[in-house]
Amino acid sequence: AELLDLEILSVAVHSFAYTTVVRRWPTILTNIVSTLSNELHLLTLHGPSDLSPQDVEAKIEEGKGIVRALSELKHDMGRNKVLHPIEDDGGANVECYNQHLKELDGTDDSWFTAAWLFAECYLYRDLRTLFAKTKFWNSYDPFFASKEETYKSSSAAMIHLAKSLMALDERKDLLNDWDSSGSVLEIIFLEMMQAALWGNATDLSLLVDLKYEDLQKLQSVGAAAQAENAKYILRNDFAKVWEHVKRQKDARVDIVLDNAGFELYTDLILADFLVSHTPFVSEVVFHPKTIPWFVSDTLPYDFTWAIESLKDKSFFKKHAPGIPDADLDTLQSLGKRWTRHMTTGAFRLSIPTSTPLGAGGLADFWTTQHPYQLLPERDPALLAELQTSELVIFKGDLNYRKLVADGKWAPTTPFEEALGPLNGQFPLVSLRTNKADPIVGLPEGTAERLDETTPDWRVSGKYAVVSYAPRRE
Ligand code: F6P
Ligand code: MG
Repeated sequence: AELLDLEILSVAVHSFAYTTVVRRWPTILTNIVSTLSNELHLLTLHGPSDLSPQDVEAKIEEGKGIVRALSELKHDMGRNKVLHPIEDDGGANVECYNQHLKELDGTDDSWFTAAWLFAECYLYRDLRTLFAKTKFWNSYDPFFASKEETYKSSSAAMIHLAKSLMALDERKDLLNDWDSSGSVLEIIFLEMMQAALWGNATDLSLLVDLKYEDLQKLQSVGAAAQAENAKYILRNDFAKVWEHVKRQKDARVDIVLDNAGFELYTDLILADFLVSHTPFVSEVVFHPKTIPWFVSDTLPYDFTWAIESLKDKSFFKKHAPGIPDADLDTLQSLGKRWTRHMTTGAFRLSIPTSTPLGAGGLADFWTTQHPYQLLPERDPALLAELQTSELVIFKGDLNYRKLVADGKWAPTTPFEEALGPLNGQFPLVSLRTNKADPIVGLPEGTAERLDETTPDWRVSGKYAVVSYAPRRE
């Protein structure tokens, strides 16, 4: 009932949602068209050797069909057409979207009138169908190239983090007096959490608005930069998370992943720190998406690819030829270490790493349109799985929007209240840089002050919230 009464953000009334529909989505679609056109051009020049000339021809035809459908989609969006039912493409979650469209029953069911969260999830699910229906593009991720690009250009920040993590191997004092306030372990824990938090600022779907140099700035991870960044955390529950984590022994931690590339790398760094340098955690389970999602979200392939690329020294060298060999060695040892963690089970994906696009089992829920208040009701198997965890870390803006049901809450609403039926099911923390309007859990007066001084504080990605909710005993 709480959820039904909640006023949800709709596209038409709110500015950032509106910018999203008129500017960001069309740009994202145009980018896919140019990526595909490029692929088609290459195919015409020299088809892949594993395909017969007839198959190359067929693949080109299918590709052209996708490009046509994308142009149509863009056209429909611009003209505020009604959202059509998702075609059955054999993948998961067709029914949940179509059911909702039926329930809307002819009202609020077009691109500008639908609830923002629903329309945005629908867009990515619908896009998937265009590829899933084909023979030759079925496993194609139109966003892979852009994810690869940012990963390559993040090497400076990556090396910095790799060195910080590797240096811990040499330290003998890490566990000294760790329980006392301000201990070395506590400080490092906070730094690793902060790196994973700000790693979320690099979200490719926002690059439409953000300049490339801004991206590099956002990745500055030195101690001074961290201290400076801490000022932008409007609600900071890191201390509570630490109090909880340090009471664990060999526990399981889950990370509901957001973006591939640099953000994923910061998640892996945090995870490695937890399993390698603390007695609290022995297993980290990562939850990817199974269809290309909000441009930069992590797919199983992105996950294994990220680790493999670290081990391949030529990968970063090609992009930044000046990187010293010693630094490439550091990245390589990190890659090897993470492969070892995957073999020993210290790291694990929630679904097999080889899961094909579209079929995800325990990962299907993340690409529905549902807010997480509905998780207990809609996916009891996933709930049971998460309940075995001692901390579920939700990364990023979209996960936050779903945690708070994308509601127009008063900014001082307690986080626990916004979580509704999810509250207390398992200990959770959300690490989110603010890229959309919903926000809860702020101290009295904060929102009003920022509205005056920094009107874009809710959406610019420069501010953040760290929100923790414990398990209900
Ligand atoms: O466009 C909507 C949105 O949810 C934004 O709020 C955000 O920019 C992006 O998509 C996803 O961000 P993230 O990768 O942090 O979930
Ligand atoms: Mg994302």
